[in-house]
This record gives sequence, structure tokens and C-alpha cells, in this order.
Amino acid sequence: TIENLEAKFQAKIDAEIKIEPKDWMPEKYRKTLVRQISQHAHSEIIGMLPEGNWISRAPSLRRKMALLAKVQDEGGHGLYLYSAAETLGTSREQMFEDLNAGKAKYSSIFNYPTLTWADIGAVGWLVDGAAIMNQVMLTRTSYGPYARAMVRICKEESFHQRQGYEITMALAQGSPEQKEMAQDALNRWWWPSLMMFGPNDATSTHSAQSMAWKIKRKSNDELRQAFVDATVPQAEFLGLTIPDKDLKWNEERGHYDFGEIDWEEFWQVVKGGGPCNKQRLRDRNKAYKEGAWVREAAMAHAKKRAEKRKA
Ligand code: ACO
Repeated sequence: TIENLEAKFQAKIDAEIKIEPKDWMPEKYRKTLVRQISQHAHSEIIGMLPEGNWISRAPSLRRKMALLAKVQDEGGHGLYLYSAAETLGTSREQMFEDLNAGKAKYSSIFNYPTLTWADIGAVGWLVDGAAIMNQVMLTRTSYGPYARAMVRICKEESFHQRQGYEITMALAQGSPEQKEMAQDALNRWWWPSLMMFGPNDATSTHSAQSMAWKIKRKSNDELRQAFVDATVPQAEFLGLTIPDKDLKWNEERGHYDFGEIDWEEFWQVVKGGGPCNKQRLRDRNKAYKEGAWVREAAMAHAKKRAEKRKA
């Protein structure tokens, strides 16, 4: 019976045995994974856009090479994640279609503009820092292909985070104008970075079930707190000020207390009303259309090679 199957499935999860593509799984588990992994893949792909904005304007050849490599990595992350989602029976074409039509979600963070070079530092330091905080737990997620994809992604993300911190450090130790740029970028990216972790646990729709299935290993609020605790000393080291007047070390809790997130802004951005949502979708659709010949050529090449192998 289905109850039997479900009990066996949960016992496997509890015993830390990975679920693999051909194993039986509850339909809701499959659906939750397709939702989360595809949203994650879309975030990687859309995340290339705000940074791509600065490749041609990086301040030196060395910075340009690092940024170019980083943006390429994000594209690769998207590909591993789309592959992981495909093992659950959804097609890449369908996922692309949903993204391009504006039906699929991707991380709220990528709907904010990168106005100055300092933003590339802040994105690496804060956005990739927040991403790693969330993704390290996903290397132990219960679905095998997702967990394995996350191992490599986390290694690359940690290079991205250092790259961003190093840019911010160079600016923070530079001229007064450069220091001001770094502070301004921190002011604009701090709160949206905290929003990346999603709604508070009490209002998070999927958390309880995803934790029981060990898709998620730590809650949205736990991860957000860990991010704040790790990042405050980094800002102090740079001599920059985190834009939160309620931020204070709480000796009793052994954590930083911090101010309330503007949840109205968060939901507005998630629902498509952020500063760059329209631009991102437009650019994504344009890139997809202009890349059609590359996809066709790759398919034709693969077909030719397969025929040669047969002959
Ligand atoms: N941006 C956009 N949507 C969000 C965000 C966010 N920052 N946080 C939560 N949401 C959405 C959820 O997708 C969900 O919407 P849905 O029901 O339509 O799918 C809704 O808000 C409710 O949130 P939760 O119930 O908390 O959702 P969930 O359990 O999936 O937790 C989280 C959200 C933590 C983002 C989880 O999906 C996750 O760990 N994803 C993998 C990591 C990831 O996607 N990172 C992307 C950014 S990092 C990068 O790309 C560099």
C-alpha cells in the first residue's frame, strides 16, 4: 500500500540513505524537489545578468578575467542543477519555458541593479556568502543527484565569495571615494541579502515538510542568523558599517540581534515588482532567442558524431 511505501521511504531518509532517481518517492517529494531545484537553477542563470553588466567595465584585466570566470561558473551551476531536476522527470525545455514566460520563481536578490564596480564586490561578498551559507547544508540533502551537484557548486561559490571580499577590501582600503563606494554598495545589498534566505520560519510554507524529508537541513531563520554572525566581523575588519541600527551582539544568545526585514519589499520583488524584474526577463528572453543557433549547432554536431560512431 501507499502507506507502506511512504513509511519505508521515510525510514530510508531517517537512516540517511540517499534517494536516487529510480527509487520510489512520494509525488509531493518529487514536486517539492523539482520546484526547489528548478528555482535554484533559474537563480544561477538569471544571476549571470547583474554581474555580466560589469565584465566590459572591470577596472583591470585581472579583475575582468576573474569576473568572466565567475559568471561562467554560474552558467555551469545552472546546467548541473537543470540536469539534477531532469532526473525527476521534468524536461529542460519546460523549465526554460516557465522561466522565460515569467511563471517560474528565481531568487529575489537578482532583481536589484549593480550600479557601480563596488556592487560586484558586494555581490561576491554578501550574495555569494549568503548562497554558500544556504548551500553547504544542501550537499547533505536527501536527494542524491542534488546533493552531489552541490558539492562542486559550493567549492566554486567559496572562490566567488573570496573574490568579492577581496574587491571590497581593495576599495575599503583605497581612497575616501573608493571607501564610500564600498559603503554605499553594502548599504544597498545588505537587506536584500538577508531576504535571500526566504520568509521567517513561522511563515515559510514548505519548511516543515522539507525539513522532515531532509531536503532542507537548516531553517531559513537559522541560516539567516548564521550569515549575520559570520558577516558582521568581516564588515568590522573592513571598517565598514552594516546599515542596521538594531544590530547588536547578544551575549545571552551568543548571536547578533538584528532589525526587522521589510517583508513587504521582499514579497513585492518575489511577485515581479522589484527594481529589475522586467529587465531581467527581457534580457533572458533576448539571450535565449539569440542563442538559438548555438543550441541548433550543438544538436547537429552531437547527431553527426552519433552517426559516425554507429558507422
Ligand atoms: N526569492 C524568491 N522567492 C523566494 C525566496 C527568495 N529569496 N525565498 C523564498 N521564496 C519563495 C519560495 O520559492 C516559495 O515559493 P513557491 O511556493 O511559489 O515555490 C515561497 O517563497 C515560500 O518560501 P519557503 O516556504 O521558505 O520556500 P523553501 O522551503 O523553498 O525555502 C529557499 C526557500 C531557502 C530559498 C530554498 O528554496 C532553497 O534552499 N533553495 C536552494 C538555494 C537557492 O535557490 N538559492 C538561490 C540563490 S543563490 C544563487 O543562485 C547564487
